[in-house]
Amino acid sequence: MARKKITVVGAGHVGAHTALWVAIKELGDVVLLDIIEGVPQGKSLDLMEAAPIEKFDSFVRGTNDYADTAGSDVVIITAGIPRKPGMSRSDLINTNVGILKTVVEGIVKHSPNAHLLIVTNPLDVMVFAAWKFSGLPSHKIMGLSGALDGSRMRSFIAMELGVSMQDVHAMVIGGHADEMVPLKSYATVSGIPVGQLLPADKVDAIMARTKKAGGEIVALLKTGSAYSAPSAAVAEMCEAIIKDKKRVIPSAVYCDGQYGVKGMFIGVPSVIGGNGVEKIIEIRLDEGEKAAFNASVAAVKALIDELKL
Ligand code: NAI
Ligand code: 2OP
Repeated sequence: MARKKITVVGAGHVGAHTALWVAIKELGDVVLLDIIEGVPQGKSLDLMEAAPIEKFDSFVRGTNDYADTAGSDVVIITAGIPRKPGMSRSDLINTNVGILKTVVEGIVKHSPNAHLLIVTNPLDVMVFAAWKFSGLPSHKIMGLSGALDGSRMRSFIAMELGVSMQDVHAMVIGGHADEMVPLKSYATVSGIPVGQLLPADKVDAIMARTKKAGGEIVALLKTGSAYSAPSAAVAEMCEAIIKDKKRVIPSAVYCDGQYGVKGMFIGVPSVIGGNGVEKIIEIRLDEGEKAAFNASVAAVKALIDELKL
């Protein structure tokens, strides 16, 4: 059986760590592409030199040439600039949309059947732009949001309760921005609603922290944004596609009327498998959650409208 091929575009913090997770999981051979000469080659060689220790047989190759990405099954796009302290994700829009156009055109030319996983911010707008630039069917394009934001919320709950991370589940929907919507009623510990385990003010504090979690890391790092959890989260999405796992992962996917949203990408619970976005699951939301979700959709839509794509 031929190995799958996964390309990661952008060999910066998120890209290089994504290549690491994908290789360790042996999801396929990895191509790491960046515009800076030497960097993807150097980081790939460094990863190959870790393979005997971690015992993975994924081949990792660095390049500056899109021809080397030909025939990719999944392409993860992390190219672009990250936030600095004081910046919102939307401050990155003009620079990153220009970078994304070049990248998507280069990728689609050589891998017309690939699934695209978008990481570059502002996320929901970039997924929409990638869809427009690529001409691919919408189920083949999705963006990293809930896998990361949900994992952050899960980690905060587990740390607060002192229980295993693996027993905590939580869901965050909406745009990958400060208006994201953590869902209190779907946060559980081994099936126990978190509201039975923590007082309301503690749950509210965790939800508020989740919404600002990306900014919390930016403020600490001062020179860039988070990359360990983001890269692990996008590798999890890649694994769901490569292994046709039918995972239920809230992700920025194309809505065609679901949740009252039509013609744009936003974070909603989605079944991710070998055919990409295979289904959107419509869950019950209370009035407050619906209002917060609609406000998040409106914020993303305003940015898309500004771009006039
Ligand atoms: P970084 O600055 O470490 O890496 C970005 C890389 O993109 C650099 O190596 C740069 O040379 C490369 N690049 C720039 N233009 C390119 C082009 N035209 N072609 C190929 N490569 C190009 O940034 P980092 O921390 O890796 O973040 C990348 C992006 O991911 C940022 O926009 C950041 O905001 C976003 N992000 C999104 C997350 C999400 O949940 N959706 C989570 C974390 C980061
Ligand atoms: C994050 O949430 C910057 O979007 C990135 O960490």
